Amino acid sequence: MKIFTGRANPALAKGISDYLRQPLGKLAITNFPDGEIFCKIEDNVRGHDIFLIQSTCQPVNESLMELLILIECFRRASAKRITCVIPYYGYARQDRKDDGRVPLTAKLVANLLTEAGADRVISMDLHAAQIEGFFNIPVDHLNAGIVLDKYFKSLQIPEEELVIVSPDAGSAKRSLKHQHVLGGGLAIVDKRRSSATDTVQANITGDSVEGKTAILFDDMISTAGSICGAAKMVKDAGAAKVYIAATHAVLCGPAVEKLNAAPIEEIVVTDTIPLTPERTPNKIKVLSVAPLLGEAIRRIHFNESISCLFKDPE
Ligand code: R5P
Repeated sequence: MKIFTGRANPALAKGISDYLRQPLGKLAITNFPDGEIFCKIEDNVRGHDIFLIQSTCQPVNESLMELLILIECFRRASAKRITCVIPYYGYARQDRKDDGRVPLTAKLVANLLTEAGADRVISMDLHAAQIEGFFNIPVDHLNAGIVLDKYFKSLQIPEEELVIVSPDAGSAKRSLKHQHVLGGGLAIVDKRRSSATDTVQANITGDSVEGKTAILFDDMISTAGSICGAAKMVKDAGAAKVYIAATHAVLCGPAVEKLNAAPIEEIVVTDTIPLTPERTPNKIKVLSVAPLLGEAIRRIHFNESISCLFKDPE
């Protein structure tokens, strides 16, 4: 087994390598003057079980193209099996045709990865679970929920003071899973999209948030319109404290500004996407998913079951 990383998230790759107590393989990646990507594997990989770590995060197109080129490179270098470890799967939000004459990019990316030569994929909190079915190769779809829940459990918020809030109907199932682990009540914010970039929050249904500590869970925070709108709504409805949590800190456009102005105690995210200084809001807590991904890699390599990774963070 050998693990390699692209340039999208070197800190997470280092965390995975530390967990596995195995150094990252040697790989030189450069850009030609016109921007084209070039790579050279500096280790022998012939007949090896290769795990290639690359989040397809911003710069999204560069990260994706780099991953495709790396797969092609490992394939031609006679790797026995190539598993793409994609902690954040970009282009996932275009996963259905909700209008005429629009693309299905989540499916296109699955086709590109397979065509380039990927044998299997490990990803985390895909925007929609059915994206797994866009692949004709095995996909191990991990869930960072256990890492987030472990952190919130450590805060020891009494169950009777807690309400888990889903920032939209689409996230209700995810919120229900968190409620099963953390306890407390459950409420759902009625979010409507007013355009591709703007949302409006109309109502809260479910248990009362008044005087409670509310935790809002989403899969990603992109422009932060959804989560900040929901947080404000919950606070206006009388919540004493509001925490927000998400697996993927996309944090683009006005996200940092919005998060800094939001009435929240803390923003809890994972390290599937690296945070640059300009994309780091105040009050942020970053939890690492490196042990989870590292353990999945280890188990896949040794053909062990990974189902225990859905139950116990240890
Ligand atoms: C929506 O379906 C997703 O789960 C997220 O709520 C959404 O993508 C977040 O986007 P933004 O932060 O731009 O509102």
